[in-house]
Amino acid sequence: MSKTSLAPTNDFCPQTLFLYGTYDDEGKPNFGLFCWFSYTWNGELGVMACIGGSKLTRENIHKRKVFSANLVTEDLLPLADFLGNTAGHSPEKARLDIKTEEGRVLPVPVLTASPVNYELEVMQFIPLHDGEVMLCKIRNILQDDALAKGTGSAAEKLAAIAPVHTTCQTYFSWSGTALGTWGEPMAKLAKE
Ligand SMILES: Cc1cc2nc3c(=O)[nH]c(=O)nc-3n(C[C@H](O)[C@H](O)[C@H](O)COP(=O)(O)O)c2cc1C
Repeated sequence: MSKTSLAPTNDFCPQTLFLYGTYDDEGKPNFGLFCWFSYTWNGELGVMACIGGSKLTRENIHKRKVFSANLVTEDLLPLADFLGNTAGHSPEKARLDIKTEEGRVLPVPVLTASPVNYELEVMQFIPLHDGEVMLCKIRNILQDDALAKGTGSAAEKLAAIAPVHTTCQTYFSWSGTALGTWGEPMAKLAKE
């Protein structure tokens, strides 16, 4: 196999997408779209999340030390794309009415339409030059009953919920079909 050296990139390394839910100072839920999310081990499974630059999600997490991470599915993609391309401080985002419920263990907004929700508490902030890594304890996981208790194989359940992947600034379906470049799926939201 002949190979080419490149500058830092995660092209061709698909990532899972999550919407991070936080409460702002007025107690209103805010959601941002994130993919720099992975897992840690410290006697139990934990989560590591990286947030770059300044954004409302980061400010809210700093104030409350808790947030939810909600799996993005194909049904949620137009909304998720909008939330990933619109700053939390913009009036457009503040106007959005998203169906949420309260976390069962932590005071975090959980996205009702997402089938897998983490309730996360930040145990350690690792500041970087222009970003931050957050090491989190998983305080609770909410899973749709069809996943947690339903019959069927993991493959069948994944096909049913259809999580979205991203790489090369493009969204991909669980089966690998391109679903649009970043900023495209949100156009459907405007029409709905
Ligand atoms: C596909 C996609 C993935 C993203 N992943 C991240 C990420 O992992 N970390 C990050 O800091 N920003 C990420 N962003 C950018 C934030 O979603 C964006 O800055 C958003 O406006 C933040 O919302 P907020 O201001 O309400 O916090 C991503 C955006 C897109 C479109």
